[in-house]
Amino acid sequence: MPKDTKYYEKFFQPPSLTDAKKRGKEDIKVHYDFVIPDEMQQFGKDKYYLIQTYGCQMNEHDTETIMGLLEQMGYTATEDRRQADVILLNTCAVRENAEDKVFGELGHLKHLKAEKPSLVLGVSGCMSQEEAVVNRILQKHPFVDLIFGTHNIHRLPVLLKEAFFSKEMVIEVWSKEGDIVENLPKKREGIKASVNIMYGCDKFCTYCIVPYTRGKERSRLPQDVIAEVRDLARQGFQEIMLLGQNVNAYGKDFEDSDYRFANLMDDISKIDIPRVRFTTSHPRDFDDHLIEVLAKKGNLVEQIHLPVQSGSNEILKRMSRKYTREHYLNLVAKIKQAIPGVGLTSDFIVGFPGETEEQFEETLSLVREVQFDGAYTFIYSPREGTPAASMVDDVPMEVKKNRLYRLNDQLAQYSKEDNEGSVGEVLDVLVEGESKNNPDVLAGRTRKNKLVHLVGPKELIGKIVPVKITGSQTWYMKGEWIPATAVAQ
Ligand code: SAH
Ligand code: SF4
Ligand code: F3S
Repeated sequence: MPKDTKYYEKFFQPPSLTDAKKRGKEDIKVHYDFVIPDEMQQFGKDKYYLIQTYGCQMNEHDTETIMGLLEQMGYTATEDRRQADVILLNTCAVRENAEDKVFGELGHLKHLKAEKPSLVLGVSGCMSQEEAVVNRILQKHPFVDLIFGTHNIHRLPVLLKEAFFSKEMVIEVWSKEGDIVENLPKKREGIKASVNIMYGCDKFCTYCIVPYTRGKERSRLPQDVIAEVRDLARQGFQEIMLLGQNVNAYGKDFEDSDYRFANLMDDISKIDIPRVRFTTSHPRDFDDHLIEVLAKKGNLVEQIHLPVQSGSNEILKRMSRKYTREHYLNLVAKIKQAIPGVGLTSDFIVGFPGETEEQFEETLSLVREVQFDGAYTFIYSPREGTPAASMVDDVPMEVKKNRLYRLNDQLAQYSKEDNEGSVGEVLDVLVEGESKNNPDVLAGRTRKNKLVHLVGPKELIGKIVPVKITGSQTWYMKGEWIPATAVAQ
């Protein structure tokens, strides 16, 4: 344990889930004056960094901020671990297997650190916000140099310097969310860009650790979001993904304004950027105004990720999702009516504590009713400190695995049918790059975010082009590019 000096205390601030659960009424300040301290501006000159990211798009986007900070400090990215002077694991705490991967990785990195003691090894992200994780790292992985959390990313330059010079593990995790720091550098690559519209989550679904690791809901000011999207449009990005754990709560924390998510989407629809998506929307707060705005389409694509988690009212109640199956189905019907051809995707948890076969079958029947385009499916994973972790769970793992299999099978069937139905159509595809398995084939996405493999010249990468769908598989379609001259005929 560290020495109890005043100096050290500053860099030994471990997390507390109990504190992280609290929600205060304090105003959130927005800061526009972030700068990298002078003495850190050249700190990374001739040095290399590598970041491994786990978890959701929010975390991926945090990695872009961390990369931006490191590059402003002079560091250069590398993919070679042996070349790296700083290695950071930006972690996810949402399920146990996400955490297991990180602990496994730390086991491997131990050897690298032994070979190269000057290497700074850091852990950031949602796992850092959990006291059990920090304690385990202190005990079992004492060679880690730095732990920081999701609320103090902007402190990285100062913390990195401290970690570099200190012999003790530097731990600075804020359990209470901080203010919003606006002008952090971000390193974005490719043709699609993510933009945070809000931070945190106040929903406290009983299974979920996110409200503890990401703090209370805080919305960025509309003018800041809009300015960022405009800037990305000017830079030539083709697609924007607006991010929040619960985007439908956007603006609810504004004291003196009734500007909400629908208003923001309406304003962003006027910006000259080809495609705008958002994730994640919570079915409870998805209002009619938002449906009305999305129905105008334009750059607002007709795809909505609307996680339902379960089709059983009893399970939804115990998950504290605060809507019923009927509410969800009614919402889906309204959306489908207002936005013909809309693509709906979802998240599901199977094997929630006590889930009966009948309750699971209600999830299957909901899938049949909605006919989702795709979904992420998970086996329930108990998260220490959440209410569901102390619920009696008598569902054997074998049964949970079997339910996951049956659910995936059912989802695959609808994806396959939907893809088959598109054969012969001409769809706009944003060509993202070469296909992972075959460099002679290009891969792109439709407005509904469906994967298309197409044959065409490499110059198409980064462009939205018309593609005739010629074949279909369960999770992707095949197509042929139609050159502009052919379209004009
Ligand atoms: N804010 C988003 C979800 C973020 S977490 C929303 O509410 O929709 C992404 C998904 O992980 C969740 O939708 C849920 O399906 C899954 N998930 C969260 N906690 C989990 C747990 N303890 N076990 C299994 N899956 C979980
Ligand atoms: Fe987790 Fe629920 Fe918040 Fe989504 S809405 S992040 S599932 S607590
Ligand atoms: Fe994981 Fe944190 Fe995202 S727990 S899913 S990285 S918000």
